[in-house]
Amino acid sequence: MRYGYFDDKNREYVITQPDTPLPWINYLGCQAYFGIISNTAGGYSFYRDARLRRVSRYRYNNVPYDLGGRYIYLRDDESGEFWSPSWQPTRNDLEDYTCRHGLGYTIIGSRYSGIEAHSTYFVPLDEDLEIWRLTVTNRRSKPASLSVYSSIEFCLWDANDDATNFQRNFSIGEVEIEDGTIYHKTEYRERRNHFAYFACSRKTEGFDTQREAFVGPYRGWEKPLAVERGKLSNSVAHGWAPIGAHRVKLQLGPDETQEVIFLLGYHENPPEQKFDPPASQTLNKKTVKPVIAKYLNFADVDAAFEKLRQYWDGLLAVCQVETPDVHTNRMVNIWNAYQCMATFNMSRSASFYESGIGRGLGFRDSNQDLLGFVQMVPARARERILDLAATQLPSGGAYHQYQPLTKRGNNDVGSNFNDDPHWLIVGVAAYLKETGDWSILDEPVPYDNAPGSEQPLYEHLQRSFQYTLDRLGPHGLPLIGRADWNDCLNLNCFSDTPGQSFQTTTNKDGKVAESVFIAALFVLAGRELAEIARRRGRTDEAQRYLAEVARMEDTVREQGWDGEWFLRAYDDFGRKVGSKECAEGKIFIETQGFCVLAGIGLDDGRAQAAMESVAKHLATGHGIILQQPAYSRYYLELGEISSYPPGYKENAGIFCHNNPWVMIAETQVGNGDRAYDYYARINPSAREPISELHRCEPYVYAQMIAGRDAPTHGEAKNSWLTGTAAWNYYAVTQWILGIRPTFEGLEIRPVVPKGWRGFKATRLFRGVTYNIAVTREGEGNQVALKVDGEPWEGTVVPAPVEGQREVTVEVTLK
Ligand code: GLC
Ligand code: GLC
Repeated sequence: MRYGYFDDKNREYVITQPDTPLPWINYLGCQAYFGIISNTAGGYSFYRDARLRRVSRYRYNNVPYDLGGRYIYLRDDESGEFWSPSWQPTRNDLEDYTCRHGLGYTIIGSRYSGIEAHSTYFVPLDEDLEIWRLTVTNRRSKPASLSVYSSIEFCLWDANDDATNFQRNFSIGEVEIEDGTIYHKTEYRERRNHFAYFACSRKTEGFDTQREAFVGPYRGWEKPLAVERGKLSNSVAHGWAPIGAHRVKLQLGPDETQEVIFLLGYHENPPEQKFDPPASQTLNKKTVKPVIAKYLNFADVDAAFEKLRQYWDGLLAVCQVETPDVHTNRMVNIWNAYQCMATFNMSRSASFYESGIGRGLGFRDSNQDLLGFVQMVPARARERILDLAATQLPSGGAYHQYQPLTKRGNNDVGSNFNDDPHWLIVGVAAYLKETGDWSILDEPVPYDNAPGSEQPLYEHLQRSFQYTLDRLGPHGLPLIGRADWNDCLNLNCFSDTPGQSFQTTTNKDGKVAESVFIAALFVLAGRELAEIARRRGRTDEAQRYLAEVARMEDTVREQGWDGEWFLRAYDDFGRKVGSKECAEGKIFIETQGFCVLAGIGLDDGRAQAAMESVAKHLATGHGIILQQPAYSRYYLELGEISSYPPGYKENAGIFCHNNPWVMIAETQVGNGDRAYDYYARINPSAREPISELHRCEPYVYAQMIAGRDAPTHGEAKNSWLTGTAAWNYYAVTQWILGIRPTFEGLEIRPVVPKGWRGFKATRLFRGVTYNIAVTREGEGNQVALKVDGEPWEGTVVPAPVEGQREVTVEVTLK
C-alpha cells in the first residue's frame, strides 16, 4: 500500500494521506539554520547545533510522535469552527490533503469546509530564518470571514537543559513584542547574544507569548482555548513557556485568495551592541529589522524560493542518469543525492530517531558520508575534512565524535574505536579523486585542536595508518579497541551493569581481541595512501605502505579465513567470532563485503566463495542481514550486538549501511545481476508499494530493516541519517553504473545487469561535463570506449584540452 506518489518532474514526494505509518519528514535549510518538518507540520528548528542552539521546542517520546511544530489554525469566525490545514494538531476530516516534500521545502495543504489552504515552508539560502507562506482561497459561494492563528513554542536554547532543568527554566523565559513581531530573548540578559523572532506580514489582531494563555489550562495544541474563543490575550511571557502566536483576520470573497507570511528566525548581535539604548535591557533590533522587512515581502520570498530551487538543480546536475530502472533513476537523480546532503549537514545528530541532544558529528560517519556528497559541494567537503582531521589525536587515533558548534572532540565519548583513523584516509582519497586538489595535503592541521601542533594533512594520514601497526594483536590482526565499524561488537566491554554505555565502557585494556574488518579497511586505506605517496614522489613511503598492506593481506588469508567465508574477529579469549565453530553468529556480512571491496581474495577464489556464502546464508528478499544465526541471548564477551532481540539493529537486522559493500564486492567479481538485485532489494523507491510494512519514508534510506529473525521482518527504522545514503549512492553510481573518479581521471567501467540494453549519464567532473552513453553488445563486462568519436585504450577517460567543457563518451559492453 502507498501513502502518496513520486512526482519526479517536480522532484517531490507527494503524500496524500496524513496518517502515514510514521511521521514522514523533510529537512529545511542546508547551511546554518535547519528545521525538521513532518508531513503534518510537526518538528523543530535550530541554528547550527541541534543541542546547543535549539530555536523551537520539541518533546521527545511524544504521542503522537511528531506533535509540536509549525502549526497554523484557521477559524471560521461566523461558525466558530477551527481546524489545521496540515491535519495536526486538530486532526479534522480534511479533503484533498497533500504534503509535498521537495528539495529544501515542504508544502502542506488541504481543503476544509470550502476553504483551501496550504503553507510553503522553506529556509532561504544564506539566511538564518524560515518562511511559512500561507495561501488561503475561499471556494464557497459566499464571502468567508476567517482568522488565521500562527503558533510556535520556543526552546530555551540548550535542548537538553530545556527538557530537564525546570526549576530554573520556569523562571527565565523572556520576550519582547514590537510592531507585531515577537522576540524570544531568554538568557539574552546574560551570556547570550542571540535571540529568535516570529514575525507576520499582516496587521495582527493581537498576540500571545505565554503558552498557558494560548492553549489554556489542561489543554494541548489540538484545542487551544484562545483559538476556540476567537481571541488572543496579548500575554507577555515572564518565565514558564514562551511561545509565539499571532492572529490575522481574513475577509475572502468567493474564489478570492489571500496570502500571509510568517517568519521564524535566529539572529545574533555583536556582544558590545546587544542593547538599544546601550544602557537598557532592550534588544538591539537595528540589524534584524531589515532582514524581517525583506522576507515579509512577497517578491523577495518568491525570489528566495526560486534561488533555492536553482541551488538544488545545480547540485543534482552533477550526476544525472537514465537507466532502464525508474527506481535507480529516481534515487540517483534526486533522492539519494538529496539524502547525502542531509547526512553531510546533520551527520547523525537530528532526525526523528536521532534526538539532536545526543551525538555530535561522527569521525567515521562523516568521512564515509563524504563519499556521497563530495561531488556536489567539494569546497565544503574540504572544510569538513580539515575539521575532522583537527580532532585527530597525536597517536593517530581520533575522537569518535566532535561538536559542530565548537568543532572540538567530544570527551564524553572519547576515542579508541580502532577503525576510526582509516576513514580519514578513505575520505581524503575520495576528495582527491573527485577534485584533483592536491593542495589539501599540505594544509597545516593541528592534533586535538591544540595550537602549535599543526602538521600537514598528509602527516595525519600517515599517523592514521601507523596507528594500526602500533596496535596489532596475537594473530597479527588489528586490535579492535572499543569497536570497529560495528559499534555494537564490543569485545573489551564485558558490561554487566545496567545503563552502562557499551561504547564508552571498557573493562579490559584489550590486548587480545582483533578485528578482521579493520584489517580489510587497513588494506583499502593503505593502498590509497601508497598511491597518494607515490603521486607525491615519496616512492619509499609508498613501497613501505604496500609492503604492510601485502603483509596484512597474507594475515587475513591465513588467520581471517574460515573455509567458506571471512571470519569477523577474535574475541578477548582469542576465540573466533563469525566462524562455523561458533554456536551463533557464524557468518557476518561486514568482512565478506569489505575484504572483497578491498581486493582481498579476488585472485584465489575466496572472494567468489565469500559472495556465494552471503547469497546462501545472509540474503533475504528485504536485504542482506548482518549475521547469522542471530544471537539468542546476551553474550558478555560480545557486548551490545547481543543485547538486541534477534533480527533488530546489529543483531541480524538488515543494517543497510553495509549492503552496498556486498554490491560493490559483487561488481568486483563481475556479477552485475546480483549487485543490482541487492541494490533493488533495499531501494526505498522500489519498496514504496509495501509502505505499510516498510513504514519509513519511501524516498530515503533507513538505517535498518528488520531481519528475518524478527517478528516484523521487512519493517524499516531510523530513516535519514545513516551511512546507507552515501554508500548506496557510491555503490550504484561508481561501481554498478561504473562512473568512477580516480586519481587519473574519470573511469567508466559499468557492471550492470545482463538484461540492460544500456544507459545514459551526464557527469560533471573537474569542471567538464561528460556525456556518457553505454550500449550492451554482449553479456559480459568488457568495456570499449570512444571519446569524442575516437576509440580510446583503457577505461579512464583523459581530461580534455584546456577550454573544452564537454566530452562525449560512448561505451560498449561486451
Ligand atoms: C551507526 C553508527 C556508525 C556505525 C554503525 C554500525 O550507524 O553511526 O558509526 O558504524 O551504526 O554499528
Ligand atoms: C548504538 C546503535 C549503533 C550506533 C551506536 C553509536 O549502539 O545500535 O547503531 O552505531 O549506538 O551511537
